[in-house]
Parts: sequence; structure tokens; C-alpha cells
Amino acid sequence: MKTFAIVNQKGGVGKTTTTLNLGYILATQYHMRVLLIDADNQGNTSSVLDAAGGEGGLAWLLQYGAGYYPDLVCHTDVNGLDVLPSGQDLGDLDLECMSGKRQPDFWALKGFITTLTEDDAYDVCIIDCPPYFSLSCLNAIAAADSIIIPTDTDAYSATGMAKVVAQIDKIRSVSPTTRITGCLVTRWAKSEVSDGAVDYLRKESPVHVFETVIRTSTEKVRESTWARQAACQWSPFCNVSKDYREFARELLTLEGMIHHGEV
Ligand SMILES: Nc1ncnc2c1ncn2[C@@H]1O[C@H](COP(=O)(O)OP(=O)(O)OP(=O)(O)O)[C@@H](O)[C@H]1O
Ligand SMILES: [Mg+2]
Repeated sequence: MKTFAIVNQKGGVGKTTTTLNLGYILATQYHMRVLLIDADNQGNTSSVLDAAGGEGGLAWLLQYGAGYYPDLVCHTDVNGLDVLPSGQDLGDLDLECMSGKRQPDFWALKGFITTLTEDDAYDVCIIDCPPYFSLSCLNAIAAADSIIIPTDTDAYSATGMAKVVAQIDKIRSVSPTTRITGCLVTRWAKSEVSDGAVDYLRKESPVHVFETVIRTSTEKVRESTWARQAACQWSPFCNVSKDYREFARELLTLEGMIHHGEV
């Protein structure tokens, strides 16, 4: 099983949108068995997929260890796509750890992923991280094989990439098997500024920048959130959906999970 963590402590850069669309594409187009882990107490991935974020989600796992995983994960309406949900209890857990009431366990998720791998339960796991380095985000980085960093094309995101990478590098120094596969430009729109940002990242980014950029389709993406679907399911031929399919192909090729020419 390959585990991807979608990480950037900058908010609103497309982490959740990337998680949902990549998961949907891998399950439906590539027929992979996919587990999405919602590591954000905002619970956006969980609510889009209609998975309850109450007792028994990621917060439970981070407190009590792996347990019996079929009881923890929720099936979705999409064949092959499961989710380990999160909700406010994950935020409560963070507060307890920060206030010293509870000893944080940075390796609980890694243990869970190891169990899933040993049981051959899924082909791919994708972890949607929150916009800050919470307990769940540190667990995600420690558990991941590969990190993908979505980024917007504003100056703060583009020029801040080196800092984001440096911080992730510090965290993954305790988990040498975790690699950063690359940064993914999201919410791109044809303009001098967006082109300049992509050029800047291709020259200056300390990590690989994916060839595919994800265009902006504000209305389609917004509608898909109300429809509780990935954009690729809601509007398969809009620009965002086409771009995420292209990104999935590029990522799977880069990771050696498919060969050149396969769709
Ligand atoms: N390609 C796109 N085109 C148009 N809108 C988009 C696109 N990608 C994401 N959005 C919108 O931008 C907003 C932020 O996206 P998203 O929630 O995926 O970011 P995030 O990094 O997960 O945010 P957070 O840091 O709060 O978790 C959402 O309203 C989403 O619908
Ligand atoms: Mg999010």
C-alpha cells in the first residue's frame, strides 16, 4: 500500500480538493482500493463523503491505537472509496496534548498504516492534513511514503514554499522513509501573475513541481461541495476534473504505480 499525505500549513490551497479528487479518480478510473484519512478537525473530507466524524474516527485511533480497522472506517457511495473520518474530537485531542493533559503519540497512524499494509486492505491511502502542524498532521507525515504539497499562485504561497519544505523536512527527519514527491500548483488561472508564480516555483522550489497545474473552476468546485461529491464526480469534464485526472496519471507514473502510456 502506498500512503500519500497532502500537506501545507497554508490554508485554502486545495489540500482537501486534491485529496477528494485524487481518491475518487484512483478508485473509479484505476479501480484501486482507496482509504482517505481526514486528519483535519474541520472534517471537510468527512462531510463531503457523508462520513460521521464522531466516536471511532481518527481521534479515537490517535488515543487508543489501531484497534479493529473495519470498525473505524466508513464506506462511501463510491465503490472502492472508504474514509477514516474526523471531527471536533480531533481538535479536543490537540488541546489536551498542548495543555499537557495527554501524552501525544506521534506513531499511532504509522502503526495503523502498517496493519493495513500487512493485511493488504487497501492499495492507496491519502491523508488530508489540516493547515497547521497538529498532532494528526505530525502523525500523517510520519506515516506517509510520499508528501504532496498543494500550493496557490499568490506571492505568499510561492515564495513561502522553501519554508514549508524546511519545516516538513524537520518533521520527517524522524521518519527517513517519508519523501516529498512534489508541489502541485492549484487554482491556476491564465494571467501574468499565475504564469510568473509557476515560473518562480519551477526555478526556485527546493522540491519537484508537478508538470500538471490545476486550473480554477470556482463555480464547479463550489457546486461539488454542496452536492457532497468530488468535482470529478460532479462535473467530470470541467477543467478541474480534467486536470486532476492528468495529475493522477503523472503521479502514478512518477511513483511507478503505472507505466507510461497507461491511463
Ligand atoms: N481548482 C479550484 N478551482 C476553484 N476553487 C477551488 C479549487 N480548488 C479548491 N477550490 C476552493 O478553494 C477553497 C479551498 O480549497 P480546499 O478546502 O481544498 O483547501 P484546503 O487547503 O484543504 O483548505 P484548509 O487549509 O482550510 O483545509 C474551497 O472553497 C474550494 O472549494
Ligand atoms: Mg482542507
